Amino acid sequence: MQIIAKDVSYRYDQIGSEESNWILHQVNVTIPSHSFVSVIGHTGSGKSTLAKLIKGLIRPAAGSIGIGEQKKSNCDDKADVNNEVGLVFQYPEHQLFEMTVLDDIAFGPKQLGWSMETISEKAEQVARALGLKRESLQQSPFHLSGGEKRKAALAGVMVMDPEVLILDEPAAGLDPVSRRSLMELIESWRKTAQKTVILITHHMEDALAYSDEIIVMDKGKVLYQLPPDQLFLEHEDELIKMGLDIPDQVKLLNKLNRRLAVPIKVESLKEEHILEKIAEYYKKNEVTYGS
Ligand SMILES: Nc1ncnc2c1ncn2[C@@H]1O[C@H](COP(=O)(O)OP(=O)(O)OP(=O)(O)O)[C@@H](O)[C@H]1O
Ligand SMILES: [Mg+2]
Repeated sequence: MQIIAKDVSYRYDQIGSEESNWILHQVNVTIPSHSFVSVIGHTGSGKSTLAKLIKGLIRPAAGSIGIGEQKKSNCDDKADVNNEVGLVFQYPEHQLFEMTVLDDIAFGPKQLGWSMETISEKAEQVARALGLKRESLQQSPFHLSGGEKRKAALAGVMVMDPEVLILDEPAAGLDPVSRRSLMELIESWRKTAQKTVILITHHMEDALAYSDEIIVMDKGKVLYQLPPDQLFLEHEDELIKMGLDIPDQVKLLNKLNRRLAVPIKVESLKEEHILEKIAEYYKKNEVTYGS
């Protein structure tokens, strides 16, 4: 499902007209159907605010947000929560509160009037897809590990089968193995079910590994929307200046290049491609390493 934000501005404090009140300034982004798009940016740059606008929890103060073919939220409309957009907040496990994991997953569908039979069936499917044990569904969410709690919270959103899934720092605080497993599950769900994923992250390796495009936000503005290789190879200095991290392979390549008379040029940031280019370079040149 495609999302188009057109000249979207927003401020939480509607009183006063000072420029400093604006949290988002004329944001324009297009997120194509079935794509994986990451949103990166310094803390406070407006990433979560953009997510809330797309979900319809808040409405733009100016501009419009179009979701899919018809649905369009203008600044004049009332805020209207869009059920086709699933939003998983940062640390979603803090919102687990029911007696069992199944009850927690069932909370959203119950509000929509689904039968308990359908809810149980869908909950089991989602739990299986996320690698949650069947018996976990009957347990208290507080008996689960951190990674399992995160999956249970995610299941509560995925059970509604949203067309667009927005994940606000889904892997924050998880160990590297759980992080990778969660990201792989999300990506495989997107591919198989043909969904659109928007990932808000401070983790550049995830943004690089999974995204078709990366949106860079800075002080409420969209600075870039580019494929990851192009962003990190062509705009590395700007990202560093903004206080953002860059992927390890870019750092390493640059370190190496600083020691070489003629720098190694790469077209992609895939590890194999970089290694190939380095090997090629060393074969071709009489390289003096070190300064
Ligand atoms: N409910 C609110 N009321 C008033 N101001 C808010 C509210 N929520 C966020 N803000 C302000 O809006 C700005 C953007 O916040 P937002 O949460 O969108 O940033 P973010 O990019 O998601 O940051 P982070 O990386 O820390 O999660 C910040 O200056 C923040 O203080
Ligand atoms: Mg945020």
